[in-house]
Amino acid sequence: MAYENIIFEKKGPIAIIKFNRPKALNAINPDVLKEVGQALDEIEADKAIKVLVLTGEGEKAFVAGADISVMVNLSPLEARKFSRDGQDMLFRLEALAIPVIACVNGFALGGGTEIAMACDFIYASDKAKFGQPEINLGIIPGFGGTQRLARLVGKAMAKELCMTGVIISAQEAKEIGLVNKVFPHEQLWEETMKTADLLATKGRVSMKAVKRCIDRGLDVDLRSGCYLEADNFAICMTSPDGKEGLSAFLEKRKPEFKGELP
Ligand code: CAA
Repeated sequence: MAYENIIFEKKGPIAIIKFNRPKALNAINPDVLKEVGQALDEIEADKAIKVLVLTGEGEKAFVAGADISVMVNLSPLEARKFSRDGQDMLFRLEALAIPVIACVNGFALGGGTEIAMACDFIYASDKAKFGQPEINLGIIPGFGGTQRLARLVGKAMAKELCMTGVIISAQEAKEIGLVNKVFPHEQLWEETMKTADLLATKGRVSMKAVKRCIDRGLDVDLRSGCYLEADNFAICMTSPDGKEGLSAFLEKRKPEFKGELP
């Protein structure tokens, strides 16, 4: 299937998914979900890819939410399927072995904030806007927004955003811990790629272990999370990358990580 609703590119070890419906501010419809799924298949099959960056085509939007013109006609069962399909896509994104950066270049509303939150972290343009405005449509977030937002920014702030539906600036999003860094609009892409390049130099096994420990660890009690960390620590230590990294330090040279499994 050719890509029409997203642009999928590989630049060396970095894969880029660009939401590409700029006339509809990159709103998400079922075709976008299918194409992202196909791109994730390609990424998972290509061991040379070490980082994924998500962004939006056009000057205005990352993603302005789920496509309202599609949602207006959904039956209850279709609505549930659309919500579950979106949630499943975001679970897949989270479960990738490689780091994923959301490069938010404009509006990230509703499903847009939800997609960004399923990435490992968010870099935003100073023109970006975030929010869960579904309440203004008489509905609620459907791609995991009530869950991830509460986990990221706390229960009370998540309730305020979902209950009022207000749109916040990138700076406000940074202040509440939703966004890691805000850059002047023209510098956002370059700064994102700098971090993507840095991430691409790290070991694949330890990168996956960091991601798994933090994501899964937050779902369990502290002791279980620490035991998960100990298991992953042991896996990394005995992995070829772990051996290479530790030896390289002792031999005073740069490590060369190959990403092989132990
Ligand atoms: N779905 C479908 N089309 C959308 C859209 C969306 N979510 N957001 C914007 N568009 C379309 C507009 O209808 C418009 O199309 P036409 O040119 O054909 O009229 C085009 O994109 C440009 O939008 P505007 O003219 O509205 O641009 P603006 O600069 O005046 O406003 C905006 C920008 C504030 C983002 C406004 O478009 C807006 O409020 N969009 C809807 C945001 C929203 O409510 N998102 C949540 C959707 S529900 C959801 O996401 C559920 C979930 O959790 C899965």
